[in-house]
Amino acid sequence: MAARVFALCNNKGGVTKTTTTINLGRGLAGKGRRALVIDTAAQRNTTWSLVQKVLKAQKNTIYEACIHKRPLHELIRPTSDSNIFIV
Ligand SMILES: Nc1ncnc2c1ncn2[C@@H]1O[C@H](COP(=O)(O)OP(=O)(O)OP(=O)(O)O)[C@@H](O)[C@H]1O
Ligand SMILES: [Mg+2]
Repeated sequence: MAARVFALCNNKGGVTKTTTTINLGRGLAGKGRRALVIDTAAQRNTTWSLVQKVLKAQKNTIYEACIHKRPLHELIRPTSDSNIFIV
């Protein structure tokens, strides 16, 4: 089944980008799909919500893909939900 990409972005703060991203991921996972969430927001609220533990390593983030051209698949982490993965 082909992957679909949803980009949830808005320059304005507090318009539910994070909330929608988490709920979309959980909704897809709940229907048996696998979701890869890519958190590009510097405050990492989506990551905190989905991983639910302190991430000690600050390397292997989306920064590495954008700046150092690291392949995205090397940066994927599991989350507390078995069908949701995150960069
Ligand atoms: N359906 C909803 N109705 C009312 N408030 C909501 C709803 N969904 C989320 N909110 C609230 O809106 C606020 C902003 O949501 P959220 O953090 O997802 O926005 P954001 O666009 O990611 O913000 P930021 O720009 O700071 O990253 C939060 O306080 C959240 O609880
Ligand atoms: Mg946010």
